[in-house]
Amino acid sequence: MRSQTYNFCSGPATLPTAVLSKAQAELLDWQKMGVSIMEISHRSPEFTAVAKKAEQSLRQLMSIPDDYAVLFMQGGATQQFSGVPMNFFGLCEGKQAGYVDTGIWSRKALDEAGRYVDARLVASSKDSNYTRLPESWALDEKLAYVHYTPNETIGGVEFPHIPDVGDIPLIADMSSTILSRPIDVSKFALIYAGAQKNIGPAGLTLVIVRRDLLDATPHSALPPTMNYRLFDENDSMLNTPPTFGWYLAWLIFDWLIEAGGLTAMGEVNSRKSARLYNYLDASDVYHNPIHPEARSWMNVPFVLKDESRNAAFLKFAEEHGLLNLKGHRSVGGMRASLYNAMPEAGVDALIDVLTKFAES
Ligand SMILES: Cc1ncc(COP(=O)(O)O)c(C=O)c1O
Repeated sequence: MRSQTYNFCSGPATLPTAVLSKAQAELLDWQKMGVSIMEISHRSPEFTAVAKKAEQSLRQLMSIPDDYAVLFMQGGATQQFSGVPMNFFGLCEGKQAGYVDTGIWSRKALDEAGRYVDARLVASSKDSNYTRLPESWALDEKLAYVHYTPNETIGGVEFPHIPDVGDIPLIADMSSTILSRPIDVSKFALIYAGAQKNIGPAGLTLVIVRRDLLDATPHSALPPTMNYRLFDENDSMLNTPPTFGWYLAWLIFDWLIEAGGLTAMGEVNSRKSARLYNYLDASDVYHNPIHPEARSWMNVPFVLKDESRNAAFLKFAEEHGLLNLKGHRSVGGMRASLYNAMPEAGVDALIDVLTKFAES
């Protein structure tokens, strides 16, 4: 049994208790093989069946069209900050890579791309101190692709809709919003996400990419572990993959399917975040700085109007079983991450503790 706590960590994040219990029950003797799943070859028929089922479940959940490859990679989303411009280098010849700046993560993606391609800003919300979405976008035919971050995990800023960039290939770092609501994959050239929020444990990185873009860069120019085409051709088994993370991701995909899929999950996530924002907006003690149109469903940063009480609040919250509410070190304050595995009861418990602390 887990003690009754709620973990609001931004990532690695809380995982569904039902999934952890299943993994625990299966841990020592997986499928009566007398070993755990961590101890078998990734090339065994038993593991390749898991890998296949994980991909099928993800394709079902996200309605991924057949002309998209689903790659299970490593290196985190940070590796994709380099992987995207490296694999799309060929597209960028005589063109530019466009980046939308909505905060810390999108900025990092832009800075890294600049090492490989001619990368430029196409939109920024810096002038609002990243509390809004960018208003004007400089799109033109010189752009080889546009990259954006649908959910800024640190700032708590999320795009409610997919931006319209016309025919320009659209690339998204969905690390902290993937699987939180339905999205139309066909609107994207490429989606990537580190696993450690809504997918599973850290160590796995998901890349969903339109297959006609896989040969944009000569293969000899790419390290094999960064080469999307090679990963696709080898069913993501180019080298030893993070097998346990892949297996847990499969269990999580099936947990989501059983819970009603992404439509049902989106409704729950919308309710959870609305309840917390409504509480914060009505409060004299707490404040969320993000414009309502740009508020994240997944990461809710907030500050105490009297910031000298931050440490006391975090201690109080922990004493009441609410863990990891400290904001990112670069911005301070507090942040409640409400990923799929955070039940509605966790938000109720948080509001209860916020209320008790405000009255103390
Ligand atoms: C939106 C976003 N992009 C990129 C990253 C970096 O991910 P990783 O640590 O997997 O490289 C994070 C991490 O939290 C993130 O939230």
